[in-house]
Amino acid sequence: MIRRIVLWSVLIALPLLLLGAALGGVLLLRQGGLAPYRTPAAGGAAVTAGDATEGAYLARIGNCLTCHTVRGGIALAGGRPFRTDYGTLYSTNLTPDPKTGLGDWSAEEFRHAMRHGVSRHGVLYPAFPYANFAHLTDSDLDSLFAYLRTLAPVEATPPPNDLEWPARWRGALVGWRMLHYRPVPLPEPADASPDWLRGRYLVDGLGHCTMCHGTRGAQGSLPAEGYLAGGRIPGQGWYAPPLDARQLARYDVDQLAEYLSTGNGEHGAAYGSMAEVVYTSLRHLRPDDARAMATYLKSVPAHGGDEKPDTGRFLYAAAQPTVNPHNGARLYQDHCASCHGDGGEGRDRDYPPLRGAVSVTAPDPVNAVRLVLYGGVPPTTAGNPRPHSMPPFAGRLSNAEIAAIVSHIRRNWGEQDRPVSAADVATYYGIRGD
Ligand code: HEC
Ligand code: HEC
Ligand code: HEC
Repeated sequence: MIRRIVLWSVLIALPLLLLGAALGGVLLLRQGGLAPYRTPAAGGAAVTAGDATEGAYLARIGNCLTCHTVRGGIALAGGRPFRTDYGTLYSTNLTPDPKTGLGDWSAEEFRHAMRHGVSRHGVLYPAFPYANFAHLTDSDLDSLFAYLRTLAPVEATPPPNDLEWPARWRGALVGWRMLHYRPVPLPEPADASPDWLRGRYLVDGLGHCTMCHGTRGAQGSLPAEGYLAGGRIPGQGWYAPPLDARQLARYDVDQLAEYLSTGNGEHGAAYGSMAEVVYTSLRHLRPDDARAMATYLKSVPAHGGDEKPDTGRFLYAAAQPTVNPHNGARLYQDHCASCHGDGGEGRDRDYPPLRGAVSVTAPDPVNAVRLVLYGGVPPTTAGNPRPHSMPPFAGRLSNAEIAAIVSHIRRNWGEQDRPVSAADVATYYGIRGD
């Protein structure tokens, strides 16, 4: 009897085990096999063939500075916090300090970490955009490394990560990669122009635009179908719109290139996390590169085909739309029309139009509410040296009044009919970006 039970258990368990192993093997292969985990030997000569001047430019466009610098801290010495659903992690020190930075790294180690997201410290968290940096050419990676080596070494250790189990354990990231990471080289369409290819290289590679402009999947992943499809940015509380032919239809290529490098233009002004991206990164774009990015972005097929995306119902704080006693149209006239115009058409380049604006057309109302609460000022750039600002209305208008105005502008100029409630405004009060 016992022997039969053992026999049957083995007969059942063995295929299951084999199946599990085969599945694990397939998933391991799909995230790049074992190669990513074989990091090059540490140390060696830290010489690189790269061009440090080009590297400085590339570092700007890759925005290493924003992520690897703590507010008010020394540039690129690390320690900026990243809030995730699993706790907080901190970026690392990229200066050439041998103890706490990249001082004794070889160029091979650097290339490997950038391409595969694995360094001598183990598997790296996907807050580091290695999935994008994987597309960089050897020569660009060497130039970046050459530039980093010209920095003054700074001894600085980031605070220890404060993450929950199992995210705390770097080994768990192998499982995450098996589920969510699919490195694929960028296809090369035969009819692509050099401009388009350069634009895609910048957008998908260094620029890592989909880190904010992508729709996230399970466990903070960025599935292929969410590519540049838009969504609420984790840990920042801003909504980033899709980047595709429909969203960007109101810009021509030159206007879009201008927006990217100046943060301003006829159709909008950058705010929130986009203002920071323009200020620390995109305002340094060479004119050709700005045009190349714009050319590529305008070619991205509209998400969801001809349908307008309807994700709005998930993004409101209050479950039910409520009746609002205030007259949004009148409040708009009193508080907003002097800058944004009676019909939401904006005024020259000083005050952006609201008709068709990101925050007014977006399924998610959070940007519009936050701008009215806290006001904003576009980034100061060579192309927009003295930006005009928008005053904050928190404290001047009640939550219900703000809700009425935002509902009014979104209904009339954005085709977003679902009213924003005072409870939505109260919730967005608390959201603070970092
Ligand atoms: C969106 C934010 C972000 C950007 C942009 C970014 N990094 Fe990072 N990077 C991180 C975070 C967070 C880590 C730490 C990951 C970890 O600890 O697992 C990291 C880790 C690294 C590491 C591994 C260091 C180590 O000691 O293991 C290297 C190398 C690196 N980044 C280089 C760069 C370079 C070069 C750029 C610019 C081209 C850059 N990063 C841009 C967030 C970013
Ligand atoms: C840190 C997050 C973040 C990153 C990274 C980021 N963006 Fe944005 N972007 C936003 C947010 C938030 C908005 C909405 C606010 C606004 O319109 O200024 C936005 C808006 C935009 C708009 C305006 C769209 C419109 O319809 O007017 C464009 C264009 C844009 N981003 C392009 C890019 C490109 C290209 C990149 C990569 C080089 C990029 N963004 C990287 C957060 C980000
Ligand atoms: C003194 C002029 C001024 C007034 C008054 C003003 N705004 Fe603005 N508004 C601006 C400026 C400047 C910006 C660009 C801010 C930025 O880029 O950070 C802006 C941006 C916006 C945006 C973002 C548009 C986009 O591109 O998505 C919205 C929405 C908005 N304002 C709504 C309002 C509402 C509603 C009121 C009245 C309660 C108002 N504004 C009052 C100057 C003003």
